[in-house]
Amino acid sequence: MRKITCFEGDGIGPEITEAVLSIIEQLHLPLEFEKYDLGLTAFEKNGTLIPEDAVESLKRNKVALKGPCTTPIGHGFRSVNVQLRLLFDLYANVRPAQTLPNVISKYDHVDVVVFRENTEDLYIGEETVISEDEVHAIKKITRKASERIIKAAFEYAIENNRHRVTCVHKANILKKSDGLFLSVFEQISKEYPEIQSDSLIVDACCMNLVMYPERYDVLVMPNLYGDIVSDLCSGLIGGLGVLPSCNRNDEIALFEAVHGSAPDIAGKNLANPTALLLSACMMLDHLNYHTEANRVRQALYHVLENQKLCTKDLGGDALCSEFAHSIIEYLR
Ligand code: NAI
Repeated sequence: MRKITCFEGDGIGPEITEAVLSIIEQLHLPLEFEKYDLGLTAFEKNGTLIPEDAVESLKRNKVALKGPCTTPIGHGFRSVNVQLRLLFDLYANVRPAQTLPNVISKYDHVDVVVFRENTEDLYIGEETVISEDEVHAIKKITRKASERIIKAAFEYAIENNRHRVTCVHKANILKKSDGLFLSVFEQISKEYPEIQSDSLIVDACCMNLVMYPERYDVLVMPNLYGDIVSDLCSGLIGGLGVLPSCNRNDEIALFEAVHGSAPDIAGKNLANPTALLLSACMMLDHLNYHTEANRVRQALYHVLENQKLCTKDLGGDALCSEFAHSIIEYLR
């Protein structure tokens, strides 16, 4: 049995995880999910956000499926997601935004993959209160972190028959920090002459993505822009409920939905499990179960064709568990 670490997380996490695991079970693969509490749920039970046994499990298994974790805004603990990414040095956050059949959105042909640097930029959390009226935050960009995320984007482009990698930055204003990221991009792009490369200022990128999303292929950028631009991309394909992601380094990969713990609908069986299900498909691909990953995607697309069988956010009236059940019925 191949063991996989599983964190249900907070809010809607347990509901969508249960839905996804019940679908994966139908594939009868030799996979065993080791479940651990994480985040607020773990804190409330044991007084620790990231329990040691959960850390050990991920170190051992090297692959995890994760539900969202709650982070209070403006006070309290530091984001569990950010902590996990730093703890395991999961430097690449890969977020593929592809148009899904029958999911209502303004566009038909979106197929963009965002590579977000995951370990530095403003997310290092170094904020200094200068006075009651002034706070400074540090934006950290290093050559090493820029090199590895940019290389990962080009390698992905080659492995997945992509044609272009675009560097997204704000080097016109942040000449030294984003300037370094851009110059590393320009250097590394020379090692991949078969892939087209260009660069774009982040504000122009946002406007262009909204106007001509079909023009973009693989995008690579520092942490903060990646966070914002990938949510924008989820809006291009039908919302936060459908965007999957992977946080990885060269050894460990953690798959999770891009959305958060959705406290407004938690515990009501209303959540859409699609983003976590597509993240699980990325995980199956990572484990070389390509046929099975595609079977699940086809089953999902089939159910998406009948809007009534979908969850509320997709215009249907099915509950999370009913939506999963329709996918299971198709897989049987
Ligand atoms: P959110 O993504 O949880 O929710 C935003 C809106 O989208 C809400 O109206 C919610 O109901 C809806 N939504 C999100 N996922 C959905 C789904 N699967 N099905 C249907 N509707 C869905 O973002 P919000 O409210 O800003 O954050 C809530 C908490 O989640 C915060 O504590 C935040 O820090 C955390 N968070 C965790 C992430 C993670 O664990 N990777 C990522 C983003 C936020």
